[in-house]
Formats: sequence, C-alpha cells, structure tokens
Amino acid sequence: TYVISEPCVDLKDKACIEECPVDCIYEGKRSLYIHPDECVDCGACEPVCPVEAIYYEDDVPEQWSEYYKANVEFFDGIGSPGGAAQTGPIDKDHPVIAALPLRVH
Ligand code: F3S
Ligand code: F3S
Repeated sequence: TYVISEPCVDLKDKACIEECPVDCIYEGKRSLYIHPDECVDCGACEPVCPVEAIYYEDDVPEQWSEYYKANVEFFDGIGSPGGAAQTGPIDKDHPVIAALPLRVH
C-alpha cells in the first residue's frame, strides 16, 4: 500500500484524489489517508502531491515511519467502504496526527 505522511497534515491539497483509479484516498479532519486494503499500488497519486507526502510503504522516510500504522489504523471501525467519494469526509484523525501542533504551510 501507499502511505500519506506528515506533509499532508493541515494542508490537504487533494491533488492525489483526482489520480486514484479506485478512489481509496479518504479525508479525515487534518489529513487524508490511503486505505491499505483498497489501494492497488498503482502509484499514480505519489508524483502529484505538491509536498511529497505520499510514499510506498517500504519507502516512508524514517522520521515518518509511524504513518504506515496511522493510515492502517485510521480505518479501524470504518472497515472497507469501497470508495471515498460516497463516504465523504470522516470526522476524525489518527491519534498520531491529532496530537500534532497546528502545521502552518
Ligand atoms: Fe495530502 Fe498531498 Fe494528497 S497534501 S491530500 S497527500 S496531494
Ligand atoms: Fe490510489 Fe495511490 Fe493506491 S492512486 S491505488 S492510493 S497508489
């Protein structure tokens, strides 16, 4: 799966959403999250993020290593909705993201 990491927090550019063929990039309050079971690893989202927040799971920079878990655990209790457009924004963040101070871009 691909992972959205810290540069997305409080920015949410959303260019990535337009590229995803399976609509598996979901919106939380302060960040977007890639669904680990729905992502088909096409990689289309990665180059379009203007702040390079998106990485293949094996390539997430060390300082953001907890973002793999954050993307996976965000969907605890949500399951696999099968499409972000129909789900709409989700009114929560993973605790790792929720605990961050406001990021000014
Ligand atoms: Fe976030 Fe980059 Fe997408 S800032 S919403 S991961 S384009
Ligand atoms: Fe979509 Fe990116 Fe995965 S475009 S299928 S979230 S690699």
